[in-house]
Amino acid sequence: MLLSTLCVILAAARQAWTQSSTVDAYIASQSPLAKADLLANIGPSGSKSMGAKSGIVVASPSNVNPDYLYTWTRDSAVVFQVIVDQFSLGIDTSTRGEIDNYVASQVIIQQVSNPSGTITTGGLGEPKFNIDETAFTAAWGRPQRDGPALRSTALITWANFLLTEGNTSYVTNTLWPLIQNDLNYVAQNWNQSTFDLWEEVDSSSFFTTALQHRSLRQGVQLANALDQTSVVSSWTTQAGNLLCFLQSYWNTAGYITANTGGGRSGKDANTVLASIHTFDAAAGCDALTFQPCSDVALSNLLTYVNSFRSIYPINSGLANNVAAATGRYPEDSYMGGNPWYLTTLAVSEQLYDSLIVWNQQKSLNVTSLSLPFFQLFDSSVTVGTYASTSATFTTLTSAIKTFADGFVEIVAEFTPSSGSLSEQYSKSDGSQLSAADLTWSYAATLTSFDARAGVVPASWGASGLTSSCSISTGGGGGGGSSGTVSVTFNVDATTVFGENIYICGSVDALQNWDPDTALILSAANYPIWSITVDLPANTEVQYKYIRKFGSSLTWESDPNDVINTPSGGSFIENDTWR
Ligand SMILES: *[C@@H]1O[C@H](CO)[C@@H](O)[C@H](O)[C@H]1NC(C)=O
Ligand SMILES: *[C@@H]1O[C@H](CO)[C@@H](O)[C@H](O)[C@H]1NC(C)=O
Ligand SMILES: *[C@@H]1O[C@H](CO)[C@@H](O)[C@H](O)[C@H]1NC(C)=O
Ligand SMILES: *[C@@H]1O[C@H](CO)[C@@H](O)[C@H](O)[C@H]1NC(C)=O
Repeated sequence: MLLSTLCVILAAARQAWTQSSTVDAYIASQSPLAKADLLANIGPSGSKSMGAKSGIVVASPSNVNPDYLYTWTRDSAVVFQVIVDQFSLGIDTSTRGEIDNYVASQVIIQQVSNPSGTITTGGLGEPKFNIDETAFTAAWGRPQRDGPALRSTALITWANFLLTEGNTSYVTNTLWPLIQNDLNYVAQNWNQSTFDLWEEVDSSSFFTTALQHRSLRQGVQLANALDQTSVVSSWTTQAGNLLCFLQSYWNTAGYITANTGGGRSGKDANTVLASIHTFDAAAGCDALTFQPCSDVALSNLLTYVNSFRSIYPINSGLANNVAAATGRYPEDSYMGGNPWYLTTLAVSEQLYDSLIVWNQQKSLNVTSLSLPFFQLFDSSVTVGTYASTSATFTTLTSAIKTFADGFVEIVAEFTPSSGSLSEQYSKSDGSQLSAADLTWSYAATLTSFDARAGVVPASWGASGLTSSCSISTGGGGGGGSSGTVSVTFNVDATTVFGENIYICGSVDALQNWDPDTALILSAANYPIWSITVDLPANTEVQYKYIRKFGSSLTWESDPNDVINTPSGGSFIENDTWR
């Protein structure tokens, strides 16, 4: 009995050692390739940047099926967050030129008028631009309000480094105006609907809310450091509202619902990415900010990973405590619905981040919520606190390290010898699919490897936050605005008999952009069509008119119409069909 137990332990240890050395070897060869491949996708001189302007990140050099030869604000910021983190932590200080180019490119991009608006009317929420820094004007899922949050976070990280160099003038004169534009946008618009990071669901999205919250907290710290205190009160208030709203995504089934809309299970890599992109080791395992090692984030991770076990053939037969290929969300059908490199790596990174904190705090907590997660690795574990001197701590952390390494090993198994990483790998045989050389795949590789090596990104102020909102009671209260305004929309539109004019827009009262349930206007004063609706006060509301005739539906041309509602009373808006 004793001997057989010992044999099992030894076998497990040998397996862990084998896997760990496989992962070590993969990291040694893949790290430099991933960094080089990432830089190759940045203009003007990246070898695969396809003529992109200076500092512009192409999402992928693939220009057909799918065409990703554009620059997304989100993807670019994620890429530059890695570059800036590695620079400021001394891991790679060869990239100052790229960072300067990125800053200069965003000075231009922020000012480009686009279908979401101008810099003052919502244009900062535009998801993507052409790589020559002009507006992309075709139909798209817009706006995507995570972009300004992620970009300002990358720029603030850079600003904080430059302040340690004593370079206050550049921070104040060049970076601060960019950061302020983005964060004013976040503060003013966070409570409006947004397309999620996958550009599919128009509602509220956990990733967006979490990153918006982080960006405002960091912005307040920088504002104080630069003595730019006029923004502090508004940004602090909205950060509090965001933190409150963040709690409302938790659901009692033990995971985070990624989007408020979309009609899916809500199990989504969105939430895992949010946790790793808001990691702050100084906050420990704080549940309010969904830190990687918090019980809420671990319970969520388990639910997310398990949702792919039965739907991908390459996961078949794997036990629940063994790593599995994961994708965006189980209902995904894009390009056939396959695992993605960046989502599989995100799982490993959340676990590596957790190990950093447990080792730093020299203990880990098992709560009733995280118990099923920890029981994967030790079926006898019970709720409690385990000091690093305990056998349970050793058993759990070593098994979790092995589990985490397993996700990297899956990525390693499906990486060709060139080191190139596409967006997806096949759920049947692991072969590469969709866009080649996805820049974010390389960024995800580097951040996972860094977390495994114990690299701790700079704190952003997640520690010690409190909120009157809590998970058990859900969101509610403390919204961005209160009260409503009665708004009459008049639009001058000539129609043919049988044709009607409708309206929909960015708030609940305007059906959250759903054309199928858009509100019909009255033609009592034809050719002026009218409707009066109650809209939230003090709010930027975007909308468009639609023509419907039988089963045909025609949107007004871009850009969206915008009104900023007053604080109360009533308001009349006079438009002409475009
Ligand atoms: C401040 O940083 C900027 C951006 O890298 C650089 O161009 C400038 O030379 C720096 N100034 C000083 C005084 O170091
Ligand atoms: C706006 O905030 C309120 C209060 O937190 C919340 O109930 C509502 O869902 C939010 N709406 C959006 C679109 O963020
Ligand atoms: C464990 O829980 C205690 C009490 O709630 C807390 O003080 C401590 O920070 C927690 N440690 C970790 C690693 O979560
Ligand atoms: C729209 O026209 C009405 C008069 O018909 C006017 O009272 C109102 O101020 C106008 N609205 C705007 C926003 O100019």
